[in-house]
This record gives sequence, C-alpha cells and structure tokens, in this order.
Amino acid sequence: MTQESLESYSHENRMFPPSEDFTKEALIPGIEAYQKEYAKSIEDNEGYWAEIAENLEWFQPWNRVFNGDDRPFFKWFEGAKTNITYNCVDRHVHNGLGNKAAIVWEGEPGETDKRVLTYWDLYREVNQCANALKDLGMKKGDRAALYLPMIPELAITTLACAKLGIIHTVIFAGFSSNSIRDRVDDCQAKLVITADGGWRRGQVLNLKSIVDEAIDGCESVTDVVIVKRGHGDPFPCKVKEGRDHWYHRMVQDKPIHCEPEPIDAEELLFLLYTSGTTGKPKGIMHSTAGYMVYAYQTMRTIFDIKPEDVYWCSADIGWITGHSYILYGPLLNGASIVMYEGAPNWPDSGRFWEIIEKYRVTIFYTAPTAIRAFMKWGESWPNQRDLSSLRLLGSVGEPINPEAWMWYHTVIGAEKCPIVDTWWQTETGGILISPIPGATTTKPGSATFPVFGIDADVLTEEGEPTETGLLAIKNVWPGIMRGIWGDKQRFIDTYWCKWGGQYYFPGDGAHKDKDGYIWVIGRVDDVVNVSGHRIGTAELESIFVGHPDVVESAVIGINHDIKGQCLVSFVTVKAGIIATEELVIQLKELVIKEIGKFAIPEKIVFAADLPKTRSGKIMRRLLRDIAENRAMGNVTTLADPSVVEELKRKYSEN
Ligand code: WTA
Repeated sequence: MTQESLESYSHENRMFPPSEDFTKEALIPGIEAYQKEYAKSIEDNEGYWAEIAENLEWFQPWNRVFNGDDRPFFKWFEGAKTNITYNCVDRHVHNGLGNKAAIVWEGEPGETDKRVLTYWDLYREVNQCANALKDLGMKKGDRAALYLPMIPELAITTLACAKLGIIHTVIFAGFSSNSIRDRVDDCQAKLVITADGGWRRGQVLNLKSIVDEAIDGCESVTDVVIVKRGHGDPFPCKVKEGRDHWYHRMVQDKPIHCEPEPIDAEELLFLLYTSGTTGKPKGIMHSTAGYMVYAYQTMRTIFDIKPEDVYWCSADIGWITGHSYILYGPLLNGASIVMYEGAPNWPDSGRFWEIIEKYRVTIFYTAPTAIRAFMKWGESWPNQRDLSSLRLLGSVGEPINPEAWMWYHTVIGAEKCPIVDTWWQTETGGILISPIPGATTTKPGSATFPVFGIDADVLTEEGEPTETGLLAIKNVWPGIMRGIWGDKQRFIDTYWCKWGGQYYFPGDGAHKDKDGYIWVIGRVDDVVNVSGHRIGTAELESIFVGHPDVVESAVIGINHDIKGQCLVSFVTVKAGIIATEELVIQLKELVIKEIGKFAIPEKIVFAADLPKTRSGKIMRRLLRDIAENRAMGNVTTLADPSVVEELKRKYSEN
C-alpha cells in the first residue's frame, strides 16, 4: 500500500454503526457488552481464556493456563489432554446435532456434483479414514502432507489426521511438485494424501502425477493415499504397488467408530508453510489446545455464529484462512459450512452469487482481491440473484480499499450487513484485529480494533506509540504459532528481535487514526501479497538467479487494481547473452516449476544493471518508484546514478 492510499484511508470518515436489528440478536449485543468483555479479557487474560476453554471438552484438565517462562516459546493449557476432531465432530454428535448439515459441498461441475454431510456422516467418514490410517501404521507425531482439491475428503482426511495426532501439512493444490517436495522433505512426511484429479475452470488438474514427480526419491514417504475425485473411472494416473492406496477401497470396510487419541495441549496439530523474507517457505507450527480455543472463540465472537447460520468462506483449506475459518473454527462451533471446489468465474462470473442464493448463505467471508474482480465483472451478476439471506460479510488476506468496501457493503450487503475486515496471519492462528459485528462502528478500509484478549498498537522502530509505524502485538494469545519447524533461531529472529523481544512483530505497517482505529497498510518486509497469497521476493530472486543466463535479479511488489499487489522482476543477464522473449518464457516456466502459476511476475524487465548503494545493496525503493512511475526518492547514495535513467527507459518500453 502506498503513501497515497494511506492518505485516502486516513481521510476516510464515513462511519457505519451496526443496525439495531443486528445488534439486538448478536452474541455480543452492542458496545457496552463489548467493552465489558474486552476489559475483562485484558485485565484477567488467563481467567478469560480458561473460561472460554470450559466450553470445549477435555480428557484431562490443565494445571496451568499460560506459561511464558521460556519466552518466546509459550505454552497454553499445560497438562491438559484433548482432541480437536473430537471437539469438532464427536461432541456435536453426542449433543444431538448428528443430523445437522456439517458440510454442504458443491463441486465445480455444479448440479451433477454436490454432497451434504451431516455431523453424523462426518463422524463416520472421519473415523473410517482414521481407522484406515492406523492400519497403514500411521501414529501420533507422524507427519502427513495433504495435496487435494476442495472436496469433502480434504476436510475428512485433515480431521482424521488430527483425531490420531498425526501432524498435517496441507499444501494448496496450486503449488508445483518442487514445492511439495520441499515441504515433504522439510517435515519428513511419512504419508501423502492426494487425489487422481480436481476441477479448475473446466479442466482436470492431475494432482497425482504432480505428487509422483514430487516424492520421487523422498525416502520419508512410505504411503500415498489417492482419493478418486469423480463418480466413474478414475482420471488417468499411475498407482505404485505397495505404496499407493485408493482411498475408497481403503476406508470401505473400516469400523465407523474410532477412539480419539488423547493429545497433550502442546503437541503439534499442524504445520503450514508460508513465505518469509529469506530462503524457502517456513513450516509454521501450531499446537493443539491453544489453537483450538482461539479458533473456537474468534469464530464465535467475530462471525457471531448461531445454530441456524449457513456459513461460507470462499478460501481454500490450503491456506490458514481455510484451516481456521472453513474447518476448525466453524466445526468447533457446530456450524453448517458451505464448501466449493471451483473458481468464482466458472462457468460464469455469477457463480458465487448463485451458490449464496441456492444454499441461503447467511455469512460470507472472502478476500478483497475477489471483491475487486466482482466489481470489474459488474453488478448485474449479483443483482440477478436473491442475496437476502446474507446477514454478515467478512474480508481477509490483504487491506481492503474503501471503494471495494463500499461496493461490498452496498451491492452484496444491501447496506444492512456489517462487514468484518479481519487482520491476521498464518503465524497468528486466528484473527487478531477486527470489528465485532454487533458492536463496532466500522470505517471502510479499517480493521478497527484488537479482538478479545488481544492488546495491539502502532509503534516506531524504537517502540514508542505513533500514528503511522509498525503494527505490534503486545501480549500473547493461545493461537500464536509455536515456532518454525526445525529452525528455532529463525522464529526468534523473525518475530521477536524488534523491541527487545517484548512484543510480537508481524511484519506489517499500520496507521492509527485519531479515534484509535487501526488501518493495516501492508508488509514492511520483502513479502508481497498477490491476490492474498504471500510470496517472498527472495524466493523468486533465487529462482531467477538459478537460470544459467541470469546474473542478478531483484523482485518487488507494486500496487495492482485487482490483485492488491503484483510482482515485477528486474533481471540482468550475463555478458554476451541477449535477453529474448524465449528467455522470458523460460523464466516464467521456472517459476511454475518451483512454486506455481500464481507466483509468475506481472512483468519481467531486463536491465543492464540494478541501482545499488556504494556498499552493493540493491535499492528496491527506487525500483518501486520506477515501477509505480513516481518521482525518484533520494538517489545520492547510488553508486552509479545513470543506472536509474536506463531502467526507467527499459521499464516504459516493457
Ligand atoms: C495481510 C492470511 C490488511 C498482512 C490470513 C498479513 C491483511 C498477511 C489483512 C498474512 C487485512 C491479512 N488487512 N492486511 N484484513 N489480512 N493481511 O499468512 O500483510 O496468508 O501480514 O494470512 O496478509 O497473510 P497470511
């Protein structure tokens, strides 16, 4: 986000209080109820979380709510034993919710491909899967990588792993085989669960062949489970005798009950890989009890979830949003969720609104990048549909610009639905900054205030409160990451080095306005948020430099109307090499091979040289100025100022 947009944000003074109708029925009914609960959550933080945790089931109680003795390696609910799948599924079956719809699934092909799983169905299917995994010899602490389309089996297998204490790492199905291999190798996964294929815009993605390529030579993998996506014959794929197992055969005769494994509070539930400033993606570790309590409570208070709601989050389970707010948060609350396999514009640009009308969705949670695409496709799509079931809207993944917010509010929300603009990260496990829908008066583009149990502020590098600076989280919460798989030091260096390690540093810049509203501006590090997907510029640079013709590369993120940000890469080639269209294609192919299509830069600009300081550091700030066509900042520290003019010319030719 640029300085210009920040200024437009801080001049934003439209205010939208929740309607009386909404407030009357809300779980947190109005500002007084909110203030009372917030004050309590801060003054007696441990007492607050203990009270919330009582709403879930524990096989053994905790003897200490919070243990911060070994900062920043925090522990929550120490001594307790529980099971998150038991709390998501079994508990509701025992409490009479067995016949309630848990997952209402729609495949991309639509009418011919939909399924409703009640809590009782989910119970049976998760248990059969868990029993099958046990028979394969999988046990607590083993790692399983899941590479699946958005089909019910993704939810089922994830929950089955959690039921046995197998640490799951879900890999978004847009990642390449090399990305899978990196993750499988890093966590030494024993099991991979995939499908023969999945649908994306009318095309079949051959997931199994991508997996085959990925794990060729990975010695840790002993078994691969293949879900058959379609109804008839499987999509073409190889099945390796002894290693590969068809899911439908594996589960068919398995018992429908499975005792939940009692899991220690701090045992890991999952790893989720995400991009950082340097090196390869890091495996963010989340543990069982704290994550569970946090997902449960944020879902309840921020989405105001009630028994009759039909909740739809359009993310993919392969990202943290899908973990916390498709799967765990809603199921912990016994909600009915909609799950959709395909793209928002397939077979036409009205697909999302058709789904909302068809299933009478009441709460809808999506990303600003999608909202901006909907704006471009035009109001006539949503206007053709009855969206009157909607009562609450959410936004996640990147800053939402006031214009998109207003469109969401007017065209989708009919000016009656509160919007919760939720700020958080893979590392935080759950939402940290967001309006509480029945209480907070919103401003378009502001994530407003920290949620219950969270103390956040905007600080200078030195730790002084300021208007525009760095976002800081001043206390610790149950859902916070427990570290980076295999790299203790990187966890400390990335999140706990600023401010003497006193506060959590998320890597975002923010602005706090005169009313105390927080406006998250975007990353202050070398992570770029393209359509809500985190991409590390260093990761891309090392891919380009891996090409034999390339000497050096610098990748930056610049503003983009729909995607929020997009990537631009500057590349210098070896002497004697001519940069051709063919080289551009090769570089793009390398990105597809190493990461996935979604990480391809918008522009690749060849340059004779890059602007550097006298000590040889690439000045990315200047590259951004060039790419965003701004007046140049200070160039006096440049080793060779003529480089900039040359780059400007090259950029405008591109
Ligand atoms: C950005 C996604 C502004 C932010 C849940 C953060 C946001 C990164 C918002 C984490 C928001 C997420 N407003 N920025 N409401 N939500 N971000 O790990 O830069 O994929 O650091 O988690 O997305 O991305 P991640």
